[in-house]
Amino acid sequence: MVKLVGKNKILSAVFISGRGSNLKSIYNYSIKKNSKICVELVISSKSDVLGVKFARKYNIKTQIINYKNKVKAEARIIKLLKKNNIQLICLAGFMKVLSKNFVKSFKNKIINIHPSLLPKYKGLNTHERAIKNRDRFSGCTVHYVNQNLDSGKIILKQKVKLYKSDTPEQLAKRILKVENKLYPRAINKVISNF
Ligand code: GRF
Repeated sequence: MVKLVGKNKILSAVFISGRGSNLKSIYNYSIKKNSKICVELVISSKSDVLGVKFARKYNIKTQIINYKNKVKAEARIIKLLKKNNIQLICLAGFMKVLSKNFVKSFKNKIINIHPSLLPKYKGLNTHERAIKNRDRFSGCTVHYVNQNLDSGKIILKQKVKLYKSDTPEQLAKRILKVENKLYPRAINKVISNF
């Protein structure tokens, strides 16, 4: 059982590297009256991105991590997570792979959103691959992060219809809308097991 601190909320960190639409949806969910989480910290591997602008606008503690040296970068992140009593880590478009040791030290506390129906299409270019294979559906998945890329236990996934005329950009846009709704639902599910 996790101790509820602060305003009785589970302190969460969102890791990003770009646009931050999922960060925005997680934040909007977190400020709802009945939400049990608080976005306490944003970690970004890039400085000049929309997600960082959003976090700063809403006064969320934000740290840009220099990833030139991965070992040092992760040590710095772990320090920040501990200092801020982070209990849940949500990866949202974070373009760095966490080391096995990092994942181990936050076992079952790290979740990620991936733009495909896992276990199909782990890794990059998911939309291109779904279109090339003429799939009838693609979608998105929220899963626990384990030591192998996009392979942890699935929390929730949702299908999105794929049209014959779809370009990767069109499909990505439709899936992203679904991602933004799915992520808060998945968080709700995860924290009910805390
Ligand atoms: C999303 O498509 C997510 O599934 C993938 O990276 C993208 C991040 O988008 N892992 P955003 O930065 O949350 O808008």
